[in-house]
Amino acid sequence: MSLSSRHLLGLNGVPKEDIQLILDTATTFREVLERPIKKVPTLQGKTIVNLFYEDSTRTRISFELAQKRLSADTINFSTSTSSVKKGETFKDTVRNIEAMKVDMIVVRHKSAGVPQYLTRISKANIINAGDGLHEHPTQGLLDMYSIKERLGKLEGLKVCIVGDIAHSRVALSNIFGLKSMGAIVSVCGPATMIPLGIESLGVKIFTNIDEAIAKNDVLNVLRIQLERNAGTRIPSLREYHKYFGITSDRIEKFNKEIVILHPGPINRGVELSSEVADGPYQVILDQVTNGVAVRMAVLYLLGTMH
Ligand code: CP
Repeated sequence: MSLSSRHLLGLNGVPKEDIQLILDTATTFREVLERPIKKVPTLQGKTIVNLFYEDSTRTRISFELAQKRLSADTINFSTSTSSVKKGETFKDTVRNIEAMKVDMIVVRHKSAGVPQYLTRISKANIINAGDGLHEHPTQGLLDMYSIKERLGKLEGLKVCIVGDIAHSRVALSNIFGLKSMGAIVSVCGPATMIPLGIESLGVKIFTNIDEAIAKNDVLNVLRIQLERNAGTRIPSLREYHKYFGITSDRIEKFNKEIVILHPGPINRGVELSSEVADGPYQVILDQVTNGVAVRMAVLYLLGTMH
């Protein structure tokens, strides 16, 4: 069994069989992560560069750890300590890195389409670790893995993505991936944060968070992305929390089981109350643990393709 593409640029158009293969492979690696020695020799001799042009905590550490667990040689690049500071172009930087014979590039960039561009200027396998407002496929995959781990399936589940949909690459990767796996996907947020025409992706829109809680099995709650000027689309963070924030009172009103995801980093007291962020409904740190296994699966499947 192998994937149908040698790159992972997004989940849009990725066949269900590929997603299933990644999730199944991740289950094997999830078991490796529970062993006293959490390392396998699978990618020994492969060299992987983590090319991060934008800040990250979870994704960068998770990829690096996944690479080390697979015994690959890992190089971390960050703009603040590189010759990008001296004006070197993106293309020159990549060509120089490639001249050192790397096999795979994991890239995060503020501009949508950079991973796609890399496939044209590099022979390495390219993995998108988040490109602008476009996609964050490994986040979508680890979210699906975490939902399946908690509820046993994806098919037929009702999943609502809550918050700043317009500024979220996580939302798009979730929509494409979950729909491909047969989930019923909706979005909820203030009208100013819901992109026009999103229904064309086959998602329903909720404008009332209580209705979204009542009618869904899972809420994937997104961060209000203040660094992308999201604050200009709502009157205040306090008002956002009042109308869309997930609180224990709000959940308990419905007396039902619901699973809460959040990709992190959390704005506590804005999209989630601290009580919910640390409470029994959330799987936020499970998502982080599962992220390592899912990224191991993606690296393994791409790195061993012929
Ligand atoms: N979820 C996520 O992408 O987090 P980071 O920005 O910390 O990588």
